[in-house]
Amino acid sequence: MPMVANGAFDARKAEAWLEAGWCDAVAFGKPFISNPDLVERFRRGVPLAAWDADTFYQGGERGFVDYPVLGA
Ligand SMILES: Cc1cc2nc3c(=O)[nH]c(=O)nc-3n(C[C@H](O)[C@H](O)[C@H](O)COP(=O)(O)O)c2cc1C
Repeated sequence: MPMVANGAFDARKAEAWLEAGWCDAVAFGKPFISNPDLVERFRRGVPLAAWDADTFYQGGERGFVDYPVLGA
């Protein structure tokens, strides 16, 4: 059965876990919310945008779909 790890991962830790065979995939939560282009940022090795926890669980679009992509 595939194992998906999650919780406080960054790209480096995710790659280490995958290379060690401790999981089959890594899921990202908060980093993906604040970085809609998270995969591209990982690919380029550029810094991630910080998330704003004050806008979590508010029930609206703010804080979920309004973080900018690179170059925007
Ligand atoms: C605002 C917010 C909403 C979330 N909604 C869900 C959800 O609907 N279902 C779910 O399984 N996990 C949800 N999570 C948990 C994330 O999927 C993830 O397990 C958690 O944020 C830890 O991973 P992270 O350190 O990469 O953020 C949510 C987390 C946050 C911060």
